[in-house]
Amino acid sequence: MSCRIVVLISGSGTNLQALIDDLAEQPALASIVGVVANKVDAYGLQRAAAAGIATRVLNHRDFSDREGFDHALQHEIDAFEPDLVLLAGFMRILTAQFVRHFRGRLLNIHPSLLPKHKGLQTHQRALDEGDAEHGATVHFVTEELDGGPLILQGRIKIASDDDASSLAAQVQQLEYRLFPLVTRWYAAGRLHLDEDRACLDGSPITASGLRLEDLESGI
Ligand code: GAR
Repeated sequence: MSCRIVVLISGSGTNLQALIDDLAEQPALASIVGVVANKVDAYGLQRAAAAGIATRVLNHRDFSDREGFDHALQHEIDAFEPDLVLLAGFMRILTAQFVRHFRGRLLNIHPSLLPKHKGLQTHQRALDEGDAEHGATVHFVTEELDGGPLILQGRIKIASDDDASSLAAQVQQLEYRLFPLVTRWYAAGRLHLDEDRACLDGSPITASGLRLEDLESGI
């Protein structure tokens, strides 16, 4: 049975577009059944509509507290009966209750080589700290912000003339390869959260995650 996916977004939705394009080739494996945004002007909503995907908007400003918003959000997502929920540029901190409800079927993509640079402004912080490399990470979401078990990372070398926007552009290109690949693993039943470890094909993934370049070079 095809894996039912709900994608949460806050903005332009280029990662959503990469997922739509990739999964269009694999309709029997997985399909995006709904896209939920916390902003009515999130451009990703138009991408979803153009692909014939149902959309919902839940404005966090309509709620007096985080618990109320997350409860309503959970309700909207559950209505799609998803097997997998993807955070694709969803710029909200989630409550522990929400995260526990979707535990094991909630993945995030983050624009840094976690555990470095959790939170925001990741590209500038990589530059400020003089990092030699930077990248993006897909991980299971747990109650610790950007702290759940790592699944897959892609990396780039930082050049002397890079700035935050050139890094963002390079990292996003990596993201478009990382998120669809991990989504395919999950949809195929190859990826699980086992206690506090991510497992691929029954084997625990190392704490630092798999490396895209190792997979692509066949290591
Ligand atoms: C992506 O780079 C994603 O990694 C980042 O937001 C961007 C969304 O772009 N997510 C976070 O920073 C989460 N903390 P998109 O809307 O074009 O996919």
